[in-house]
Amino acid sequence: MPLPQREPCSVQLDIQSVSHSYGTLPVLDSVSFTVRDGEVVALIGPSGCGKSTLLAIVGGLLRPQAGAVFQEGEAPAGCINPLTYVFQDFALLPWRSVEGNIRLVLRGLAAREVEARIEEVLAQTHLSDFRRAYPKQLSGGMRQRVGIARALAVRPAVLLMDEPLSSLDAQTRVILLDEFAELFQRAGVTAVYVTHNLAEAVRLADRVVVLSRRPGRVKDVVPIAVPRPERAIDSPAMLAVERRLWNLIRDEAVLADQELADAR
Ligand SMILES: Nc1ncnc2c1ncn2[C@@H]1O[C@H](COP(=O)(O)OP(=O)(O)O)[C@@H](O)[C@H]1O
Ligand SMILES: [Mg+2]
Repeated sequence: MPLPQREPCSVQLDIQSVSHSYGTLPVLDSVSFTVRDGEVVALIGPSGCGKSTLLAIVGGLLRPQAGAVFQEGEAPAGCINPLTYVFQDFALLPWRSVEGNIRLVLRGLAAREVEARIEEVLAQTHLSDFRRAYPKQLSGGMRQRVGIARALAVRPAVLLMDEPLSSLDAQTRVILLDEFAELFQRAGVTAVYVTHNLAEAVRLADRVVVLSRRPGRVKDVVPIAVPRPERAIDSPAMLAVERRLWNLIRDEAVLADQELADAR
């Protein structure tokens, strides 16, 4: 009998048949997908379908009731490093400066290495002039950039991002989306990017994993074949992919709303 085919070794993450419930509430049902080296995978699905739960499981913050997550072929040893989270709210320490917040995640490295990394990520996120500012002196967009800078400073194998733009106003979101697109292209980041915003997914991802309503199952995996330099938000090719994703998700969102209403 032939051996089962293994993915090439460039697979960074292999999520295999992950299922999870909170008490009697089933939240994820046998979810499988891979994230290859240098790839951005967007995870979309209706509100409450288990996206944040899945990200917590991928990051090793939560143990799934069934299935497993392999990092480069091995089960991560129960800790999130070297996978790194960027949360929906900014999760910065208010009493530390921009540079102080970044320094915190670099404990244990040689002083020269710490300074070099801080310089590098501040430049990457256009924050060099604000290194001594405190979070309350910064706009929401800038605070979220600090969150990204802090995550990049760790040089994570995979960046895990949970709706990083959703708490920002519309204009800031557009500006930061452009910056993320540029950064992902330039820095060759490997990431799982959770969003409920289809335009973000289409703009940033190489592939989009579409989850069903709760319990989340993989409904489809859609490659974004449009070359990155041609990904203007309103280009016909982008709008066509966005429409395809919307068609996949619309029925799920409607049914999820109905189920919510029925349960009340
Ligand atoms: N710690 C928890 N305990 C119990 N229920 C939870 C917990 N976290 C999330 N849930 C529930 O699980 C479902 C999925 O949540 P979540 O993963 O946050 O979904 P999403 O990020 O897709 O909106 C929701 O119905 C939510 O209320
Ligand atoms: Mg969520």
